[in-house]
Amino acid sequence: MKKAIVMAVAAGLFAAMGVQANEAAAPAAKADPAKAQQIVNTICVGCHGADGNSPLAANPKLSGQHAGYITKQLQNFKSGERANPIMMGMAAGLSPEDMKNLGAYFNGQKPNGGEVKDKALAEKGEKLYRGGNLSHNIPACVGCHGQNANGIPAQYPRLAGQHADYIEAQLRTFRTGERANDPGKMMQGVAAKLSDADIKALAEYISGLK
Ligand code: HEC
Ligand code: HEC
Repeated sequence: MKKAIVMAVAAGLFAAMGVQANEAAAPAAKADPAKAQQIVNTICVGCHGADGNSPLAANPKLSGQHAGYITKQLQNFKSGERANPIMMGMAAGLSPEDMKNLGAYFNGQKPNGGEVKDKALAEKGEKLYRGGNLSHNIPACVGCHGQNANGIPAQYPRLAGQHADYIEAQLRTFRTGERANDPGKMMQGVAAKLSDADIKALAEYISGLK
């Protein structure tokens, strides 16, 4: 008798939850990676590759990056909050739906990983990445970007396997404040304390991660 009542209550609860979930999902369209395919094939492919594993070091890899981070960067390029003449032009014609779909598309692509060229330099970078540098007040990157630089969705981007030149360029522009689209100046605060040698070592280490 008791058991039947409990089950009836539970069934009612699940039914109520089901209705709520459907209502919540209806208005905002879900990201559809397939809808991004045409934009990728006509525009992005030239620089980032169809699977987001861009062959050229100047163009960042997007494969496996958090969807929310990609969408935010596209919004920031469109608004001019992240100033880059090439990408501002690319993002100008994208709708909010396009940006969401593109985020989901590149998130679903398999990263091709990287390769360390200078082992000694990468080891210096690993120390800094994992432990920071107390005497220079540099926090460990691991706290925000994760153990293997896979990032933490959606705010903290994945860095693993990214081109070293691109990582270096971003750390430099965060340091000068030229890139200032980081919430709460999180990255500007970190980069301000990095020397040129720190930046080179970090970029070498991170670019070699899978
Ligand atoms: C002509 C080359 C070119 C094309 C075409 C291009 N991009 Fe880019 N993209 C770049 C470059 C260069 C950067 C790095 C900008 C910087 O240094 O701030 C970049 C950066 C980005 C970033 C930021 C990545 C990060 O890790 O922060 C995203 C996201 C992005 N592009 C998405 C796209 C999408 C989506 C398209 C297609 C609609 C596209 N790009 C087309 C060259 C290009
Ligand atoms: C307090 C958290 C925090 C710490 C610590 C931190 N980062 Fe970041 N980092 C961020 C956030 C947030 C962003 C994304 C900013 C945005 O939305 O554009 C970012 C972005 C970056 C980017 C740009 C990625 C891209 O695709 O353009 C690089 C490179 C980077 N961080 C490297 C590092 C390194 C190296 C360290 C350690 C020396 C570090 N970060 C420490 C929060 C952090």
